[in-house]
Amino acid sequence: MMFVLLFGPPGSGKGTQASALAGRLAVPHVATGDIFRKHLREGTDLGRLARSYMDKGQLVPDLVTCDLVASRLGEADAAGGVLFDGFPRSVPQLYWLIGHLAGKGRALSAVVNLRVPDELILGRMTGRRTCTNCGATYHVVSAPPAADGTCTRCGSAVTQRRDDQEEVVRDRLVAYADQTFPCLAQLRDRTPVHDVDGVGSISEVQGRIFGALAL
Ligand code: AP5
Ligand code: MG
Ligand code: ZN
Repeated sequence: MMFVLLFGPPGSGKGTQASALAGRLAVPHVATGDIFRKHLREGTDLGRLARSYMDKGQLVPDLVTCDLVASRLGEADAAGGVLFDGFPRSVPQLYWLIGHLAGKGRALSAVVNLRVPDELILGRMTGRRTCTNCGATYHVVSAPPAADGTCTRCGSAVTQRRDDQEEVVRDRLVAYADQTFPCLAQLRDRTPVHDVDGVGSISEVQGRIFGALAL
């Protein structure tokens, strides 16, 4: 039973690293941001609500987010554990998750915190491109999509995320410092956190994560 949390500021490489890590752990990758974006594309009420926060770089309210995670954890493929990417990211979300898992006789297994200095973040995010269909992540310099600008995984169009404009990125960094950093600090008091240097090639960072988790 593996419940692994992947932390890191916006643009630190959580999504990039999560696919291989989830594969190795043999658990599904659960990224709350990706689920909100899926609702947004499908035009659901939840998508409209989430967009009003995401476009401002603010966190979607805790109750809404925790409800979404509760229903995701109720799906059959999550029974053996999940790799969380971008959840929890506030102190109330953390305690909700600990309580929710405890209610099922489960606990957190491991935490990986990707560290990337602020000065690298903006370049990563403004160069990022995201597949409109499968959510795969690219970067115009370090991980480009196919030559015709499509997704190498599914062939769909890749675009820039709405919240990757510089002003919104700055607000996301503020939300991280105000809400997610305290969440990580509280987590450190209860569970070992593996701090991993997120600077280097994608495969170097992957090697460090696998090494930290002894995979
Ligand atoms: P979310 O989608 O989770 O965004 P985020 O946490 O800000 O993180 P990102 O997805 O921007 O970055 P990442 O760490 O995944 O980096 P990536 O791998 O793409 O959340 C978006 C919004 O949804 C939030 O603002 C909030 O409104 C809402 N939300 C989500 N979860 C929530 C929650 N729990 N509660 C409330 N609200 C929530 O990499 C970035 C770029 O760098 C890419 O271009 C990539 O190719 C490149 N790159 C990656 N690794 C490297 C490397 N080693 N070297 C060079 N480039 C690299
Ligand atoms: Mg991401
Ligand atoms: Zn795709």
